Amino acid sequence: MTESPMSQSTYTIGRHLMEQQKSFAGSTGHFTSLMWDLTIAFKVISTEVNKAGLVDVLGLTGETNVHGEGVKKLDIFAHDTIFKCMDHGGHLCLMASEESPDILPIPAKFEKGEYILLFDPLDGSSNIDVNVSVGSIFSILRKKSEGPDGRLEDCLQPGTEQVAAGYVVYGSSTMLVYTSGEGVHGFTLDPSIGEFLLSHPNMKIPERGSVYSINEGNHDHWDERTQEYIQSLKNSRDGNKPYSLRYIGSLVADFHRNLLQGGIFLYPANYQDPDNPRPKLRLLYEANPLAFIVEQAGGQASTGHERIMEIQPTSLHQKIPLIIGSGKDVEAYETSLQGVITPNTSQ
Ligand code: AHG
Ligand code: MN
Ligand code: MN
Repeated sequence: MTESPMSQSTYTIGRHLMEQQKSFAGSTGHFTSLMWDLTIAFKVISTEVNKAGLVDVLGLTGETNVHGEGVKKLDIFAHDTIFKCMDHGGHLCLMASEESPDILPIPAKFEKGEYILLFDPLDGSSNIDVNVSVGSIFSILRKKSEGPDGRLEDCLQPGTEQVAAGYVVYGSSTMLVYTSGEGVHGFTLDPSIGEFLLSHPNMKIPERGSVYSINEGNHDHWDERTQEYIQSLKNSRDGNKPYSLRYIGSLVADFHRNLLQGGIFLYPANYQDPDNPRPKLRLLYEANPLAFIVEQAGGQASTGHERIMEIQPTSLHQKIPLIIGSGKDVEAYETSLQGVITPNTSQ
């Protein structure tokens, strides 16, 4: 990425996108505008999240989504905000959201473009009522089908086909982190001027961490090898320091911490019924975008058996086991699934 002659604190995401655009010969500007429109949606959601205790947006709508989960008012607010900010720019031909069972066509009255947007409008929404960080996640693909409208198959592309991916964490500050395949860049929202400013250029995840993030309450429903692997992280024999458990319960927030400090996040399948293992996290809206980011930052994302980004999706709301984070930690987990426990050499 080109170094800004200006100090980082005034280097806006708009400027960054323009400079990136210049480095792509033949760029039409559609991607830049699409990303810009997305930042508007995230600013609106950020503002709403920040006043969540003051206005009537906490709690459930009373509905259940396609995943059988109770829908929060803010899930719907975030979904509607992203859809409405993105439907009329002329850059997209189709959207799909975790909160909607089917693909979301662009209304007929608007122009259509070549890109597809997949999104998890509000991630970790069970945390919103208790003032704990939540996020949004997005993935951008290019249309492959003929015709202007885009089809379901355009959404079902493997993660390796992503043009860009990112997330926003609405935490003690709001941060947007994204990649378009040229490294990972993080921007912090300065609410006083309403701008995302470059705060974390070219992010890299440490090769190995000393933190693991998993819902340990599910221990008895993990496969035996996952149980052994987690136990190995707690092993403090031979003077090794045990890994620390850090689990917020918002994937974006857990992922963000591990991206900055190193570590591994695991959501393995639930083996309560051994004949029907049930993963929880979603390939298109959660796993693929974060996998693209982590790989661009030098880390890895796997089901334990295969690279997340190489999975050929078969349905819009497909769920998969997700193991993501520092490369050496993810590799150690993959090895442990083959019955080999790598000793914990954490210092
Ligand atoms: P979402 O709020 O988009 O449905 O995602 C919730 C996800 C993810 O954010 C988090 O890592 C995980 O669910 C937490 O699940 P558990 O409560 O089962 O640990
Ligand atoms: Mn989610
Ligand atoms: Mn969600």
